[in-house]
Amino acid sequence: MGGKGGVGKTTVASALALAAAERGQRVLLVSTDPAHNLGQQWGEALGDAPGLVFRSGRGSVDAVEIDPGATLDRHLAAVRETMRQMLPERLHSQAERHLTLARSAPGGQESAVLERVVDAIKLGLDDYGLTVFDTAPTGHTLRLLSLPEQLTGWAALLLRNRDRSERFAGAMRGLVVPRQSGSDEGRDRGDRELRDVLQRRHARFALARDVLGDASLTGFLLVATAEAMPVDETLALAAGLREIGVAPVGIVVNRRSPADDGVLLASRRGAEEAHLSRLRAALAGVPLGELPLVAREPVGVPELRALLGRLT
Ligand SMILES: Nc1ncnc2c1ncn2[C@@H]1O[C@H](COP(=O)(O)OP(=O)(O)OP(=O)(O)O)[C@@H](O)[C@H]1O
Ligand SMILES: [Mg+2]
Repeated sequence: MGGKGGVGKTTVASALALAAAERGQRVLLVSTDPAHNLGQQWGEALGDAPGLVFRSGRGSVDAVEIDPGATLDRHLAAVRETMRQMLPERLHSQAERHLTLARSAPGGQESAVLERVVDAIKLGLDDYGLTVFDTAPTGHTLRLLSLPEQLTGWAALLLRNRDRSERFAGAMRGLVVPRQSGSDEGRDRGDRELRDVLQRRHARFALARDVLGDASLTGFLLVATAEAMPVDETLALAAGLREIGVAPVGIVVNRRSPADDGVLLASRRGAEEAHLSRLRAALAGVPLGELPLVAREPVGVPELRALLGRLT
């Protein structure tokens, strides 16, 4: 699920998760938006691990709000432990300062979210019938979706460079320095461990890229309202998705004004038609469904159920 801020991504993601659960599916609902409001939608305090928010017969919805801060902390704790073992005591405080800076390094939060998205993709494939991602507004999500591609390329490059420098170092050792078996062994083990880590990361990101790019496994649903800016942003999002090889499977136009409920709303409805025809023309062939503007915020299961009855 993706689209401009505030158009109804969380609402539609939740409604679809609920619909699938009521058809008997086990659904994993994942919020990748750092400013989470999935918990509010279901009236539950959600966390970084999946928690049950709905059950009906065999169907259920488990929801999770990805917490990049917690992911980074876990990662940095592991790095800290390794550094303590490897570095002499006198360098510990310097290393500690470096780690503190690393926590707020640009891109750190994004790649932490991506790590957890990959976890969710795997968990979803293994344990659930359907995984629904409720995403942050457009730009953030596009960047997130293009990261696996960038990171697989990056990991592959690191591995290649590693190969080259290992071969070079091996040749140099053989040529000029008499082998000192003790220290070489330590270094070789370090090299192997680093290579293993890089290879695992490469495999994880490649999995994410393959699943996201596979139209038989993944569908991207665009959510919009029938207004100028949301439509512009939806078209830009569709173009951005095309660039990274993801085709939208459908459009949900949310908060449609009624035509028969007073002059103001009728005239809004007229204005909406113009924006909608722009959307239909630019994304011809992509199925488009509409949801009406409702009087009360569609928060909670009965409200979502009523809303989703309209989404055919
Ligand atoms: N059809 C509707 N009629 C009336 N109110 C709606 C409708 N759909 C959503 N809302 C309300 O509009 C607000 C924004 O919806 P929602 O949180 O789902 O949007 P979002 O795209 O997830 O926003 P964000 O980009 O901030 O994550 C919420 O208060 C929601 O309850
Ligand atoms: Mg939202």
